[in-house]
Amino acid sequence: MRKKHDDGPEMILAPKIRDPRSRETGFREIDPNVVAPEHVREDSLLRPRSFDEYVGQKKVVDNLKVFVAAAKQRGEALDHVLFSGPPGIGKTTLAHLIAGELGVSLRSVGAPAIEHKGTLASYLTSIEPRGVFFIDEIHRLQAVVEEYLYPAMEDYRLEIPVGDGPSAEMLALSLPRFSLVGATTRTGLLSAPFLSRFGIVLRLDYYTAEELTEIVRRSAQKLSLSIDAAGADEIGKRSRGTPRIANHLLRRVRDFAEVESDGRITRQEAQRALDRLGVDPVGLDELDRNVLRCIIQKFDGGPVGVESLAAACAEERDTLEEVVEPYLIQEGFLQRTPRGRVATKRAHEHLGLPTRQGSLL
Ligand SMILES: Nc1ncnc2c1ncn2[C@@H]1O[C@H](COP(=O)(O)OP(=O)(O)O)[C@@H](O)[C@H]1O
Ligand SMILES: [Mg+2]
Repeated sequence: MRKKHDDGPEMILAPKIRDPRSRETGFREIDPNVVAPEHVREDSLLRPRSFDEYVGQKKVVDNLKVFVAAAKQRGEALDHVLFSGPPGIGKTTLAHLIAGELGVSLRSVGAPAIEHKGTLASYLTSIEPRGVFFIDEIHRLQAVVEEYLYPAMEDYRLEIPVGDGPSAEMLALSLPRFSLVGATTRTGLLSAPFLSRFGIVLRLDYYTAEELTEIVRRSAQKLSLSIDAAGADEIGKRSRGTPRIANHLLRRVRDFAEVESDGRITRQEAQRALDRLGVDPVGLDELDRNVLRCIIQKFDGGPVGVESLAAACAEERDTLEEVVEPYLIQEGFLQRTPRGRVATKRAHEHLGLPTRQGSLL
């Protein structure tokens, strides 16, 4: 059975069990002969099919278009590309758009599924000339596998052991030129030699509320939903800067609107549904508020180290660092200081909790 860690259009995936922000490792595989559940078909429907449909990230997209056009003109493979940014921000989508624009196929794999060199070799030898090889969560690649990838990235060369034991010889195999596209939520975890082998390194940032509103509007159109401008605005504002969350919230709001009223999504309808989903007016969810409350109530507002914080709020450290903190920091609810995490005045105010006497933040 194929193992897939990517949610591209060609694959059919079972429901994501955890919240939409959780890392993309919780997929179960289902029989590809079974008709895809509704939400999976909708996921595929909502994914942008061209650069023009890709909202926001203007600088990244404009540069990428030039690099892709140049590679195409020269008939060469695109330089290796690394995308970084929080989950659900559009990295996988861009990898697919690159392949589409180059007119080549995309092979995709999650780094944890590459268990040893042999697995990597079998992927590398099956990529078409100028094709895209997409490795998701690339910071999770094992060191031996990563080093084995270097000559493939640099010289399109692969060394394959022939025979066993000390008499084994290395057979150098030359690969067609290809583009490695990596996606990571943690650039900081990539080794310097690995990082330096990517010719194009692009960082995706959180989207503005206006961009998310536009995404909600387009998604509603694709799903034939009835939504007014204020309804889309309300969902966009509460989407935590993340397109995947925008689409997820839109579909949940639809459920409330269809079951409890006439199906039309207005601001009032969106507010009511999002409140019930625990998404507050600035887009923070239960987990965000828990973490802030924990810092304020258990650690007197901080500073607190990430390990202690993870233990005290019963969350994984990775989830805190990759998912929760970046948004709280960007929105000014949290600060990262050399001595640890500190809840800001805005966090105290937002939760209606008093600040500590003499606190500077
Ligand atoms: N720029 C964008 N414009 C419109 N929709 C987007 C955009 N980026 C992401 N999406 C939507 O969000 C979903 C999740 O994006 P994805 O590329 O899988 O994120 P990542 O790989 O960074 O976790 C996509 O399937 C798509 O529906
Ligand atoms: Mg992805």
